[in-house]
Amino acid sequence: MRKPVLPSLLFCGLAMAGACWCVGGVEAQEPAQEQKIKGDAVRGKAVFEATCEECHDAYSREERVGPGLQGLKAGRLPDGRPATHEKLIDIVNNGPAEMPAFKDRLSEQQKEDVVAFLMTL
Ligand code: HEC
Repeated sequence: MRKPVLPSLLFCGLAMAGACWCVGGVEAQEPAQEQKIKGDAVRGKAVFEATCEECHDAYSREERVGPGLQGLKAGRLPDGRPATHEKLIDIVNNGPAEMPAFKDRLSEQQKEDVVAFLMTL
């Protein structure tokens, strides 16, 4: 009764090991894939209009709920800190003070896109 089970278990194990090996191989070939997502300012504008515009004016420094974001391409945030790509991603992810966090509400691609758009302002 037990005998036929063994070979099929073995086969199953081999198949799984094979699958793991394959997946591992693909990952090893493209290790930095996630970091290489490129922002697109045109798509980012649409993301901005859908998610940020209710609180931020992109074309002036006038305050809505949050500060107007015009002038970021000069490299400074409205509060004077450096507006680096990294800092902007961090702001979108974590939301300073009263700004909501978008970590789980935007995809990595959307975040890159919206930051690319911010850098054109
Ligand atoms: C519900 C309103 C709200 C939404 C939506 C919102 N923000 Fe904000 N944001 C704020 C507020 C309020 C601040 C100011 C926080 C502070 O002063 O600490 C802020 C601050 C910022 C700053 C930093 C300004 C500075 O000088 O430090 C940036 C950049 C920014 N938001 C970008 C975005 C982007 C990009 C989005 C969309 C993905 C977004 N915000 C969506 C309210 C919002």
